[in-house]
Order: sequence, then structure tokens, then C-alpha cells
Amino acid sequence: MGSLRLVDISKRFDRVEALKDVDLEIYDGEYAVVLGPTGAGKTTLLRIIAGLLRQDNGEVYINEVQVDDLPPEERGVALFFQNFALFPHMTVLDNVAFSLRVKGLSLEESERKAMDILRMVHLDHRAYSYPRELSGGMQQRVALARTIAAGVDILLLDEPLSQLDAKIKSEIQYELRDLAKSLGLTVLHVTNDVEEALAVADRIAILNKGEIVQVGTPVEIMENPKTAFVASFIAEMNLMEGVVEESSENRVVVDIGGGFKVESSRNGFKKGELVIVGVKPSSFKIGGDGKNGLTGKVEDWVFSFGFRRVTVQLDNGSRVSVKTERKDIERGSSISLTVDPRDVYLFPYLKGGLRTVLAEVSGVF
Ligand SMILES: Nc1ncnc2c1ncn2[C@@H]1O[C@H](COP(=O)(O)OP(=O)(O)O)[C@@H](O)[C@H]1O
Ligand SMILES: [Mg+2]
Repeated sequence: MGSLRLVDISKRFDRVEALKDVDLEIYDGEYAVVLGPTGAGKTTLLRIIAGLLRQDNGEVYINEVQVDDLPPEERGVALFFQNFALFPHMTVLDNVAFSLRVKGLSLEESERKAMDILRMVHLDHRAYSYPRELSGGMQQRVALARTIAAGVDILLLDEPLSQLDAKIKSEIQYELRDLAKSLGLTVLHVTNDVEEALAVADRIAILNKGEIVQVGTPVEIMENPKTAFVASFIAEMNLMEGVVEESSENRVVVDIGGGFKVESSRNGFKKGELVIVGVKPSSFKIGGDGKNGLTGKVEDWVFSFGFRRVTVQLDNGSRVSVKTERKDIERGSSISLTVDPRDVYLFPYLKGGLRTVLAEVSGVF
């Protein structure tokens, strides 16, 4: 059993409002991810849940019991840090058995249980190795095994994969999820890595500057980002500023400058309003003469897993990224693009415009 409910949590450090009115519910057995750029408030949130830091406002409930006055060890949660620390002078088995010994199990029983847990993380064959003899990924799994041995309901993971190289990381992220699921643990995993979040999460909560801006399944968020920040951060959408020129039901025409007009099938924007237009790199079609024709020059392109990512300097001065499988793309050549109005997203304009959104996405503000 392990459910978690955060009600109206706020925390300020001098001039920084690290968390603002955070409401979040995580269900028993769920693998939830809080995703946000560096400085968003992720670690602060986990420290408050774990009881290492007191919030200024709001309440933390674990299994529907308010835990704000309980010390960390009585909350039934374990915080697994970015920098996991194993005891260097103890074997892998002893590292894991340690938590069980502390809980009062006999030496024999704690070693037997520790071995069971090591089997779950596929490290039983390294039980008698020392941490320094293992790879980073293996050490990570030992640290996780030790946390599991401590017998918690809720695992709080603070960027647990950030120190691993890409290949090991993609293996371990699935193992981590499988392991949590097979043990029935509730997990709150925080990260700034979008792919990692999309790969492991049942649900994602997006944190930006201390505020939860959207909560949903990876598909829901990818398909329907609520703000320009989420669109850019999660779906890597191209964003452009514009002014609504015409607006009727299911048809909004936006002037994006340089004589370009883009039509969108979204609703809810008024004539004359400033908006941010979003288009996924994969939504642009190269060539053709469909709706929403845009022209520009190929500035550059790079290979990425089976497709090319082309940077196009549009003739209105904006720069967009286009994902394509076409191989006949040459640097410096002219290019025309079209996009289906159904693939044109519109977002409310923010004070400061696009520059502010892009700064938030890169975590510089
Ligand atoms: N102990 C602290 N004292 C002052 N400011 C802090 C402290 N801890 C965090 N902050 C600030 O709070 C904000 C959120 O930090 P943090 O929770 O570490 O973000 P994240 O883990 O998402 O990178 C940042 O602006 C950070 O500088
Ligand atoms: Mg952090």
C-alpha cells in the first residue's frame, strides 16, 4: 500500500518561490514522474515528502494519513538520491542486508532476504563483489536493492538515472519500472529528461518554476499540451508568434509575419489576439501544395535514429525544425513546407513572448 496526496504545498527560499500551491495525487502502485527543467523545484518537492524539509504551506498525506509532523523514518518512504552512496568496505550482499539487520532480522535471515532482493535486480551473481568492482549501472541497482530491503511503500527517486550512459540508462529505466511494478511499489520519480519520463511513467506531472502546469498520461500530454512551455518541452514543438487574423469555429488564421498565414483547426482565440503557434517537427510535409504553405532555405540537417532533422530558415525569419525520412535534402537549397491545419496547435501568449518560453524550457530564468 502506498498512496500519496499533496495539498497546496508551497515553499520559499528567500527570494525564490521554489514551490507554489502544488496539488498532486499519486495512486497506490502507480509509477508517476514529475518532469521539469533544472531548478523547477523537483528535489525540494521530494525532500518535503520525505520529511527532510518543512513546507511553508500545505499538507502531505501518505496512505491518507497526514505525515507533516512525522520524522522521515516513520513516513514509509525512501528517497533515492542522485548521488547514491554504497558502503565501500562492504560486499554487495552486506550492503543490502544492512537495512534488514537494522530492522532487527537475524544475520542468516537478513542475508537470505538480501539475496532474494538481489535476484530481483539481477545481481545475485555479484553478491560477494565490492561496489568498486561493479559498473555504475550495477551500483545503482545495488543501491535500489538496499532501499527496497528497507521495506518502504513509496519510493522517491531523484534523477536516479542521470549518471548513467545512454545505453545502460535505457535498459535500467525499464528494469526500474518492471521492478517497481512487480514489487507493487508506488514510485515518484523526478527527472528533467523527457524521453526517460515518457518511457517509464504511468502519469507525468509537469513542473515549471515551482508550479504543476499539466498532469496526464504520456500520450495525453504529447497529444494535447496545454501551454507553449509544455509543447516545447515535451513534444519539441516549433513555436512561432503570431496575431489572429480571422477566427470562426474550428478555423483560426494566424499571421506569423513575412506574409505567411497559418490556419489551425483549434478554437478559442479572438481576432487581433497575440498567440503562440506550435507545430511538431514531424507534422511538416516537405514539398507539395497543401494548405499552409511556407517557404525557406535548408540551413542544416543531422541524422537521428532513422530520420533526418532539418533546420529550415523560413522566409519570414523564423527557424523551424523538420523531421523527415527524405534523403534528398541539401544544405542551402530552397524548400517548401506544408502543414495540415489539424496539426497546428495554438497557445495563449505569455508576457515576454517566445523568448520567455524558450528560457523556461532550458531552465534559465
Ligand atoms: N536550500 C536552499 N536554499 C536556497 N534556495 C534553494 C535551496 N534549495 C533549492 N533552492 C532553490 O529552489 C529552486 C528549486 O530547486 P530544486 O528543488 O533543487 O530544483 P530541481 O531539483 O528541479 O532542479 C531553485 O531555484 C533553487 O536554487
Ligand atoms: Mg534536483
